[in-house]
Amino acid sequence: MQGKMNITEEVRKFVENECKKPESKYGNEPYLCHFLPVASYSKILAKKFGADEEIVEIVAWLHDIGSIVYGRENHHITSAEIAEKKLRELGYPEEKIKIVKKCILNHRGSVNNKRESKEEQIIADADSMSNFENVSGIFKAAFVYENLGQIEAKHETRKKLENCYNKLSEEAKKIIKPKYEAAMLLLE
Ligand SMILES: [Fe+2]
Repeated sequence: MQGKMNITEEVRKFVENECKKPESKYGNEPYLCHFLPVASYSKILAKKFGADEEIVEIVAWLHDIGSIVYGRENHHITSAEIAEKKLRELGYPEEKIKIVKKCILNHRGSVNNKRESKEEQIIADADSMSNFENVSGIFKAAFVYENLGQIEAKHETRKKLENCYNKLSEEAKKIIKPKYEAAMLLLE
């Protein structure tokens, strides 16, 4: 490693620390239940697609950091800003910071931006795939934040997982299919 610091590890630690701060919006759950699976699926997909693994992992850790620090509104923009600042501080090359920012800005399925690179597609995929590692989190949102009853919560969870699956690229679908089918069976 030529005495160089491990940039992905530095970024991971930064995100973990932000999540653990007492003022962080949702406690440590986003780190464990979202960032971690997004990072691991990103790495799997980066290998499959021959994408830049380092960039993809950095984006995975930072893509939602804005929602931890400021809340969900416009978190693609706030996350990109935090990422830029942090990566500059760490001496990450400017041309790579540009790619990271673009991936973060384009990661939201609900915000209609064109995805031009495989890195951008990978993050969008991994973000959706992470929901299949966190079905309890979808139920929690339905019960706690939306105040739904059991039947509606089950219906909402099924709908959310269906939407997530339908948005995936063909490669990502192949990976997640057994979990998708299991979820559809259980949430009938
Ligand atoms: Fe996300």
